[in-house]
Amino acid sequence: MQLLDGKKIAAAIKAEIAEEVKLLKSRGKKIPHLAAVLVGDDGASQTYVASKVKSCEEVGFKSTLVRLKKDITENELITQINLLNNDDSVDGFIVQLPLPKHINEERILLAVAPEKDVDGFHPMNVGRMTLNLPTYLPATPKGILEILKRYNIETEGKHCVVIGRSNIVGLPMSILMARKDKIGNCTVTLCHSKTKNLKEETLRADIIIAALGKQEFLKADMVKKGVVVIDVGITRIEDKTKKSGYKLLGDVAFDEVSKKCSYITPVPGGVGLMTVASLLQNTLSAAKEEFYKKTLSFSVDEL
Ligand code: GUN
Repeated sequence: MQLLDGKKIAAAIKAEIAEEVKLLKSRGKKIPHLAAVLVGDDGASQTYVASKVKSCEEVGFKSTLVRLKKDITENELITQINLLNNDDSVDGFIVQLPLPKHINEERILLAVAPEKDVDGFHPMNVGRMTLNLPTYLPATPKGILEILKRYNIETEGKHCVVIGRSNIVGLPMSILMARKDKIGNCTVTLCHSKTKNLKEETLRADIIIAALGKQEFLKADMVKKGVVVIDVGITRIEDKTKKSGYKLLGDVAFDEVSKKCSYITPVPGGVGLMTVASLLQNTLSAAKEEFYKKTLSFSVDEL
């Protein structure tokens, strides 16, 4: 069994980005600028956003954190988003999810200008991803592709089972693993809460991507020997022995499952850190206008 070291890859990606920022600076070009919108005071969201801002500093990006009260109205939030859409100094921005229940998430994600949507959540970018056109890929799935790529894990013709169909991870992951691309070409089964005989599906899998958000859900008797396991779960469990007051558990019962794996991502130290690294890569792409010219929302000339 080999551990897939997300921490090491994320550090390598950040070092690559930092080098590119130095180059941009030396050529007198603008430094990439990421903004993050945080609504309310959810503990996990605050931690994630703080880590995104800190990572920007580490690679030399400019960052802006827009903190908004949890009782902000949907229209007020859209006004804030439009300010960022129209702010030429901002290359890309994210609206941290989940949003408070009174806000319609779809309406908010539609309000983000596709060319600044470094989370890749806007329907236009989801469509471009699905059709294998150049675009921002959602950060967690992009990070998983990068892990598979950097460890030279063969995916072509393999049977990949994705557990969980969230818009952020499971659904895009299933699309990406099926795409005709270097990492992809899998036969994909997307499993979810209504799947019958999940164990039958996971036992046939060469690659399992667990993204359902249930701690230690995937057990050893559900996987075949030699399987590649990617664990996206991060559940916080109270732990008074830790300085933070909590520990993190994945969706995979690591101790028992890892014994049967060829490769597995640990939690923490696996997928989580890759999410931030991918977001930085997307922000760099936004600053370099790799997918969209800033004045146009979409043009066939870009393809
Ligand atoms: N909440 C959980 N994951 C993500 C993510 O990748 N982006 C945003 N904006 N919110 C999230």
